[in-house]
Amino acid sequence: MALPGFRDFYPDDCAFRNAIFAKWRDVAHRYGFVEYDGPPLEPLDLFTKKSGQEIVGQLYNFKDKGDREIALRPEMTPTLARLVTARHKDFKKPLKWFAIPQVFRYERQQKGRLREHYQFNCDIIGEASLEADVELIALLIDTLRAFGLTEKDFVVRLSDRIFWSDFMDAHAIPEDQRYAFIQAIDKSEREPKEVTAQKLGPAAEEVFAVLADPTVRKSERLDTVEAGLRARGLGDYVKRDYTVVRGLAYYTGVVFEAFDRSGEFRAIAGGGRYDTLLKNLGNVDLPALGFGMGDVVLGELLKVKQAGFSEILTLDFYVAIADEQFRPQAGALVQKLRDHGDWADYPLKPMKLGKQLEAATERHATYICIVGEEILQGNVQLKKSDTRQSKLVPVDQIFNHLAPETWPAAENQR
Ligand code: HAM
Repeated sequence: MALPGFRDFYPDDCAFRNAIFAKWRDVAHRYGFVEYDGPPLEPLDLFTKKSGQEIVGQLYNFKDKGDREIALRPEMTPTLARLVTARHKDFKKPLKWFAIPQVFRYERQQKGRLREHYQFNCDIIGEASLEADVELIALLIDTLRAFGLTEKDFVVRLSDRIFWSDFMDAHAIPEDQRYAFIQAIDKSEREPKEVTAQKLGPAAEEVFAVLADPTVRKSERLDTVEAGLRARGLGDYVKRDYTVVRGLAYYTGVVFEAFDRSGEFRAIAGGGRYDTLLKNLGNVDLPALGFGMGDVVLGELLKVKQAGFSEILTLDFYVAIADEQFRPQAGALVQKLRDHGDWADYPLKPMKLGKQLEAATERHATYICIVGEEILQGNVQLKKSDTRQSKLVPVDQIFNHLAPETWPAAENQR
């Protein structure tokens, strides 16, 4: 059995996962993002220094045989920062990079939370203007739209870390209490009001007023981001919500999280600006922003919303063997089809022809070639699965006999 919180991927699960990955890649490419990757194991201190207490408590870390302190990556952002700071001069800014790493967190297993997941990461590096925030949030929205989800299904909650740091300045919250203050806001939806009030101290009432009505205080940054999204026709997908502060330590500006509208699931995605991380980590002063979207909550949501969403692998050809003595010729035909770049399969052991035709249907084969005694004259029966048309064709010209106009009229068919 797999370890708790780890998944096995049987072919159906893989097909589902691949369909998700394919959409992720497609939308990222549509937005001009390029793919990168990094190692799943990193030096432990990459995360202890940069990720924030919550994630550090969830690290899978150990010593390797060379006595190095290492950890399985719990997120991709520190690795991205390491990669970019090491070679930042080699790349024109802004960078628009994406990755689909598997990441590992020793979390309490619950609905939507496992101990490994795949996370679509999209980041823009080297652009301070809010246009980059708009572009990134639009990409997040369009990623979910690509799965057929609409503004009725999900919402991106927008917030601003600077808003809260200004607020804490105004209320003279000491530096060493700020993380706890932000965490109390983060947890305010899940905890009784009195508990949150106690954690927030004298500023509590004012915090509650802002949470209840985010318009009581102006935020030019959020106004600009919202206007940019409205101009793209995406205004209905976002909502201002200052309860979103994000658990990770490195965020510095606009932050956001995507949730299903029903409120049934954990966050689908989260991200924001982290303009100081690259400076702190590699002494390279580059603004940055990004988001991560896991495959777990998204998968649960898709299963509810769009039953049947999956990647269906279809064969181009199934080669059936009508008479075992012609197996060598069938093998040669399979080879020819594969050399041509087609997806082709055939039975590895003797099987009744009826069973072979069933197998071809199960595998969604577009064409079926039946190798029988006609092969002695160099011919095979070629069947078209959708129309059930069939004809005898010379093997060496098989590819000239696929086009629709080469098939006899349907009424002449058996
Ligand atoms: P995060 O909010 O920790 O952000 O994770 C992003 C998403 O990953 C979550 O919204 C959720 O969908 C998924 N996720 C997180 N933990 C789990 C888990 N245990 N099981 C299943 N899914 C999970 C980050 O990791 C940031 N590094 C994102 C980012 C990229 N920020 C800037 N660039």
